[in-house]
Amino acid sequence: MPRKPHIIAIGGGKGGVGKTLISLSISLALAELGKKVTLIDADLGGANLHSMLGVHTPGKSLYDFFRDKNIEFDSLITATPVANLKLICGAPGAVGMADIQYWEKLKTIRLFKRLDTEFVVVDLGAGTSLNEIDLFNSAHQGIVVAQPEPPAIQDCYNFIKLSLFRKLHLDFMDSPWVLKLLDQCTDPTHTRDHRLISTLAEQVREHDIRLGMRFYRLINNYTPHLILNQIQNKEEIMDGLSLQVAVQDLLRIKIDFWGYVPNDHEIYKSIRSSRPDAIISTRGEIRKNILRMVKQFILHEEMSSEQPQLNNYAPLLDILNRKDKQEESMDRICSIECPLWGKCEYQEGGVYCRMPENEYRANLKLVEVKESREERIRGHLGARRN
Ligand SMILES: Nc1ncnc2c1ncn2[C@@H]1O[C@H](COP(=O)(O)OP(=O)(O)O)[C@@H](O)[C@H]1O
Ligand SMILES: [Mg+2]
Repeated sequence: MPRKPHIIAIGGGKGGVGKTLISLSISLALAELGKKVTLIDADLGGANLHSMLGVHTPGKSLYDFFRDKNIEFDSLITATPVANLKLICGAPGAVGMADIQYWEKLKTIRLFKRLDTEFVVVDLGAGTSLNEIDLFNSAHQGIVVAQPEPPAIQDCYNFIKLSLFRKLHLDFMDSPWVLKLLDQCTDPTHTRDHRLISTLAEQVREHDIRLGMRFYRLINNYTPHLILNQIQNKEEIMDGLSLQVAVQDLLRIKIDFWGYVPNDHEIYKSIRSSRPDAIISTRGEIRKNILRMVKQFILHEEMSSEQPQLNNYAPLLDILNRKDKQEESMDRICSIECPLWGKCEYQEGGVYCRMPENEYRANLKLVEVKESREERIRGHLGARRN
């Protein structure tokens, strides 16, 4: 039996944040590393991957497949100019697909899993419709892409929140009691999310201990991954990471920060050229960062110690897994949560603290923290304070 492919979905709410560029870059990197990849353009309203890949006459699309029961799924697979990379096109300019039934999506996901390929990369459309969310939740790894500006962070937060609630909803179909509880929890302002998710879990546990354990397990295992895009300076990485803190504090789930992709004005030239693989083959920092993310988080290759610069942006909450802990400063990851945030010469979100222990302790005594972490999170989410 051939091994089932590993499915990666890329979403994140807002349009134009770089979901397609990152789906393409990850696919190109995997293909360059010799892996067989099928890239699926699931942006059924605004498909553009075929033109970015230089496939000027796209064959039948996913849209056609949903519309015509006689079309075989395998006939959607299109060759591309890139070795190891195949494409399933979306439908440029197709009117929305709001009426795809849940069972149709399940069937399609089963077909993705049967593809003769090692990796399936699914480029999702913008928005938080159930089409995007169900495809995102069905992947082995779901990546959200955000730009470091408040509207993109807020959209991305909404996307993660709705995906989590949808997952809870589908997982507890067998418990009308939990479903009713979930239905009561629609709070568009997010101001009560913090109370909601923890009290929800507690309420479920009090109602039925086994359901409660399931609820906690689902929250603990639900880990979207984050890539920040179009980063221009380090301060923007810090702003983007407020999403990680917000998700952790308000939804009680962990989000893994994979890294960032710099803003690069030359990208559009690569996309317009007949060599789309130039996106990662010629752009220095983009290439370095994407390859590092693919090797570290998708292929789980050991990163050699001679490449510390590639390992810079470790997942913020991964400290407990670190075995080679030698110094006390290894207990700290640089983040917005640090009391010395904004006052430190080393400041680099996501990396292990570089400040020597004695210097850190001395500085802590001196610093008067003016802005609480919670205020900063709420500022980014645009929520009103009571
Ligand atoms: N890191 C980047 N640097 C420069 N331009 C970028 C970058 N990422 C995306 N873009 C450009 O931004 C636009 C939107 O990107 P796209 O990947 O289509 O977003 P989405 O799929 O989220 O709607 C495209 O023109 C793309 O070339
Ligand atoms: Mg797109």
